[in-house]
Amino acid sequence: MSSPESPDGPVAAGSTAVAAVPAEAAGPAAVGRAVDRVDAPVKVTGQARYAAEFPYVGQAYAAFTYATVTRGRITAIDTAATSALPGVVAVITHLDAPRMKPSPKPNPLRSMESMATATSVDYLNTSEVHWNGQPVAVVVAEDVETARHGAESVSVTYEVLPHSVDFAAEEHNAVPQKSSIIQHASGSKGDADAALADAPVSVDLRFTTPRHHHNALEPHATTAVWDGDRLTVHDGTQNIHWLRSQLATKFDVPLGDVRVVSPFVGGGFGGKSMVWPGTILTVLAARVTGRPVRAALTREGVYRSVGGRQPSVQRVAIGAERDGGMTALIHTSTAPMGKVGGMPEQITTVARHMYGAGNIRHQQRTLGLDTHSTTNMRAPGESIGSYAMEAAVDELAYALRMDPVELRLRNEPSRNPIDGKPFAHRQLRECFVNGSSLFGWSARSFEPRSVREGRSLIGWGTAAAYHPAWQLPANVTVRLDAAGQALVRCAFHEMGMGTATAQGQIAADALGVPFDAVTVEYGDSELPTGPGAGGSAQTASVASSLLEACEKLKKSIGTPREGESYAQLLARTGRDHAEAAVGSETRVGKTVGQVKFTAKYLKDQRRWMKAACGAHFCEVRVDADTGEARVTRWVAVFDVGRVINAKTAASQLRGGVVMGIGQALTEQTLLDPRTGRIMNPSLSEYHVPVHADVPRIDVSWLDDPDPTMPLGLLGIGEVGITGVAGAIANALHHATGRRLYDLPLTLEKLL
Ligand code: MOS
Repeated sequence: MSSPESPDGPVAAGSTAVAAVPAEAAGPAAVGRAVDRVDAPVKVTGQARYAAEFPYVGQAYAAFTYATVTRGRITAIDTAATSALPGVVAVITHLDAPRMKPSPKPNPLRSMESMATATSVDYLNTSEVHWNGQPVAVVVAEDVETARHGAESVSVTYEVLPHSVDFAAEEHNAVPQKSSIIQHASGSKGDADAALADAPVSVDLRFTTPRHHHNALEPHATTAVWDGDRLTVHDGTQNIHWLRSQLATKFDVPLGDVRVVSPFVGGGFGGKSMVWPGTILTVLAARVTGRPVRAALTREGVYRSVGGRQPSVQRVAIGAERDGGMTALIHTSTAPMGKVGGMPEQITTVARHMYGAGNIRHQQRTLGLDTHSTTNMRAPGESIGSYAMEAAVDELAYALRMDPVELRLRNEPSRNPIDGKPFAHRQLRECFVNGSSLFGWSARSFEPRSVREGRSLIGWGTAAAYHPAWQLPANVTVRLDAAGQALVRCAFHEMGMGTATAQGQIAADALGVPFDAVTVEYGDSELPTGPGAGGSAQTASVASSLLEACEKLKKSIGTPREGESYAQLLARTGRDHAEAAVGSETRVGKTVGQVKFTAKYLKDQRRWMKAACGAHFCEVRVDADTGEARVTRWVAVFDVGRVINAKTAASQLRGGVVMGIGQALTEQTLLDPRTGRIMNPSLSEYHVPVHADVPRIDVSWLDDPDPTMPLGLLGIGEVGITGVAGAIANALHHATGRRLYDLPLTLEKLL
């Protein structure tokens, strides 16, 4: 088992510190080493340019006026006072905005790019308002302050239309969600309802989770520059290609005339995978004014105009024999989306994979509300679904009076429970065994509320983590020159997770050159088309094509003599360099590539169940008088296949745990049920964990490659957050004797 460097204390017993080995001393292999990020120096010295940091001569600034009703029609819009403000360049509303083409309807079978359509609203080409916060005017000014002041001074009169935004009141209107090529919305094995009724021991629980919003360090920002009909856009996006394609469609220009530049993204978490109105309207503002235009959303602007995570109501019912063997597992959910769009999360799919129950049923239901569209947020579905599932398993353990780890091991399946498909790789048992030992779980007293230190009630909780492994098509080129320098090119995304560094490590080993000899170019649509950064799939997706390209390259160079490198062979045979490409950049070539990829991929997915998993162990301390809960210790062991970079992997996994702590204890977006207005659109009222809320997080992994994935790697972006809220809920029960079923688990509920 391996673990990364431990920044604040000794490495836990039983794990090996790999990051302590200097890069040069670790031998020729780059993969697996804790290499510093190649982009670290430019980031820490402030030289890294984000979307709102590309200056252009003559640049103007845009800001948006957000609707204040949730459903309505604009009957009057008064821009006279705004236009008269010194420094205002233009005020654009639905009365004068040029017409844009409608966004494509999201349909992965017709085009993957269509998946980036966030809503069906024709922003500024309609007088209709579909959610409280929809942009209804753009103000362009000489400076950002004037633009923002101007946006607030636009006077809009609405006819308010009937609307429904109250999830609790509308829950009964939900309809079964249909399964799609990308999501199992329902499934069953045997008769779970009958088995539940017959089970000698059972739990039948209802959980609720709130809306969440992404709070990336870099709020969404765009700089748009038109040169005639050619468009350059700097945008912090998780999907360069989808954004490029959407803008070409909306502004009716050839794809090749749109360039998206996105070398750095200051965090995304799913919130930057779709194309939101701020981006589209900045491009429109540049078109209308004929000037380069920059718009950086305020934090409030992000809440108003970018969708968040679905809230949910979930039922988890489990029936078991007295020895703990599960006989029935039922997981159902109801979750709203916006009527104008949204992303249904895979909330109940954990029931397909986690426990070897004899009978299983899972079903998702959705309904539309007059709210903004929902969207991806770190481990969409699995994150909140695993909270309910893992809390229910803990409650079953207490009903059985069985240790929660023992109950999980007792029900660990040998095949994917719902359909008997073989697991490509599943070391969840090992994660629990190793995690128990690292945490010291065997010293735990079973009884709730049995450990106290002064005013602190101390509790220990555990939960499983799980996230499926996906891949996407990626075009990659590789070049090696006779001096031994390598260049990798692919339009992938660097959101802070160290992607370029990891791909550099992979290329170095594949080409047999030192890591320092590899340059990786990314973040620009001029490069070969990359995959989106989402679904924990980017690293494996790029790696797959990169490895293929490196093999092609080596084959084209020939067979080196004993002791000779490929670069030396190039030099000896008088060649300056060699190049290889995977994937085609022509329209037809891309389509053919995508169809081929999908066919192969679906075949592979039918054959294997692939996923990353892990085991969380945590300690909480609850103030017996105030109910204040603190997470004080965390140990997590993951099965994420091969780890490419021990340092960046640890950061990703820790980041997931931090986000899960927020989900468990503090985060919730509050909607006024009368108006649909988000009431807490700021970091002062939407509470994310700060440093003082986060304990030392001990993460380690088994480092056992998955035999079916490129280099054996499984994605690590999302598995870290799954199960975290469950582990905390379970620890809070152990500390206090109280079960809570409604996230966030705030102090007034605990008292
Ligand atoms: Mo992710 S939620 O696929 O960025």
